[in-house]
Amino acid sequence: MPETGNRKTGRPLKTLERVFSKAGSGSRTDARSWIGAGRVRVNGKVVLNPDHWVDLELDRITLDGKPLQAASKTYILLYKPKGYLTTFRDPGGRPTVYDLTAGVGTWLSPVGRLDLDTSGLLLMTNDTTFGEIVASPDHKVPKTYQIKAATLLGDEQIERLRQGVELSDGPTRPAVVRRLRDGAKRTHLEMTITEGRNRQVRRMIEAVGSKVQKLVRTAIGPIRIADLPIGEWRKLTGEEVAVLSGARPSTSSFDPSTSAGRRKGRSSCRAPKNPAAPRF
Ligand code: URA
Repeated sequence: MPETGNRKTGRPLKTLERVFSKAGSGSRTDARSWIGAGRVRVNGKVVLNPDHWVDLELDRITLDGKPLQAASKTYILLYKPKGYLTTFRDPGGRPTVYDLTAGVGTWLSPVGRLDLDTSGLLLMTNDTTFGEIVASPDHKVPKTYQIKAATLLGDEQIERLRQGVELSDGPTRPAVVRRLRDGAKRTHLEMTITEGRNRQVRRMIEAVGSKVQKLVRTAIGPIRIADLPIGEWRKLTGEEVAVLSGARPSTSSFDPSTSAGRRKGRSSCRAPKNPAAPRF
């Protein structure tokens, strides 16, 4: 649900269910169940509607009588293994990234998604503004992947990936694509894209007539997995948060002719010159 504004103060309002995840108290599903159970009060009155608008500065919100307290902003980088979902709960009981991050101690949401079969760098935070900056295609934050294709790819196929391919939801932006090596039957590539559409890398490789056999996200902007062991997480440094938070909406084009993903025009968040090689 989009944010709206308080008519008198102009401050943004949020839905009641959203303030709990924003404060790091729990998921939106948790919040809905607390609200439905009558455990949440706004200015002393029980509110049963999760879509009730509240002004965090004016309204007093309590859960079981205890005031809602905003959690300090937390940002982590998880090296997600293959086979873990980027959702909170799976009705089928499959493992999720929350099984790996229980020790963080506060509620965090994933920034974008990685497919079940994709491993690599996943950011999680309770700072929704930061999450929106990093995930939104408007900010063009580069995301770098290493790909093992199921076949050998020729120069012409790689050039098509660089220029942008036609997908069912429209053409992709130019990408930085580097051939890492060719095995007997398969090409290993590194590709940096500035969107984050559903299964985008897999669909791009299919659009040039191959398939992804293995996919690892190695970097977001200049932030890399480096030597973090698979399944582990670490906090982002203040500098890393500042660099990604500084990524601004950009109308400049992403220049695929440079391996560093340099932009023409306004500078923004750059792809790493040499993204760390994961275990690939
Ligand atoms: N592109 C994909 O196809 N899958 C991912 O998980 C991420 C990017």
